[in-house]
Amino acid sequence: MKLFYDTLLSHRSIRKYKKRPVPDRILNKILSAGTRASSSGNMQPYSIIVTTDEKLKEELLPAHFNQSMVTEAPVLLTFCADFHRMRMWLEQNDAPENFDNFMSFMIGSIDATLASQNVALAAEAEGLGICFMGTTLASNKEISRILKLPKHVVPVVGFSLGYPDEMPELRDRLNLEAIVHKDIYQDYSREEITKIYKEKEEEGMKRYKSNPDLKEMIQKTGVNNLAQVYTKVKYTKESHIKYSEDVFSCLEKQGFLN
Ligand SMILES: Cc1cc2nc3c(=O)[nH]c(=O)nc-3n(C[C@H](O)[C@H](O)[C@H](O)COP(=O)(O)O)c2cc1C
Repeated sequence: MKLFYDTLLSHRSIRKYKKRPVPDRILNKILSAGTRASSSGNMQPYSIIVTTDEKLKEELLPAHFNQSMVTEAPVLLTFCADFHRMRMWLEQNDAPENFDNFMSFMIGSIDATLASQNVALAAEAEGLGICFMGTTLASNKEISRILKLPKHVVPVVGFSLGYPDEMPELRDRLNLEAIVHKDIYQDYSREEITKIYKEKEEEGMKRYKSNPDLKEMIQKTGVNNLAQVYTKVKYTKESHIKYSEDVFSCLEKQGFLN
């Protein structure tokens, strides 16, 4: 098993997987390690859905925008904010059920996300690979339907899991100076912003241009730098307004907006 810092520092998202299944013993070990994460009031208001059934993964594929990892990885993990379980316990103990509001969703989301990252690290320490999928949140209404989630349960984050069949280069990260502020927020000058994003711009454009599909998309849309790729191709204002509406609609349906 890898040393702790080796695991942290060698993380890369894995999008290609071997057919080899993940043994139950390993799966249970990493899930159990994940649930040791800190938790608000130690309520653990989250659930982890482990999907290995091929038909279910096929059904989930469109909700995950047809990302190949969904069906190629042997396991798909969906981490949900979950106050359903706790509310049942409250009801059985003559306690007010509460936890049907936005704050509760946020608390459940934070706990679910912390647990997910711990599971991810435990998985990587075991030689497994993962790739988070933002589509878990963007399509949370449809995923809730497919996974038969009751009220007060909402998918927040998810990732594919399996033995890696690729070893991609480590992706760039911003320097620590760009991210860490001493004592109070130290605002950036224009020059600092140029310096901070220089490597990302160069690496990012090189990466996008080496992928034929993305290269074609970049040419079609006429964008000419990474900032424009992020905002005019990948994360447009229109798409994010639509996803915001979808997420709020899911929260409403699942009873988190009282
Ligand atoms: C919340 C979240 C959602 C993500 N969604 C996707 C996704 O839908 N598809 C994908 O291929 N990668 C996804 N990623 C992976 C990121 O693209 C990846 O972490 C980032 O490019 C850095 O690369 P690295 O993980 O290999 O270091 C997601 C990561 C996070 C944290």
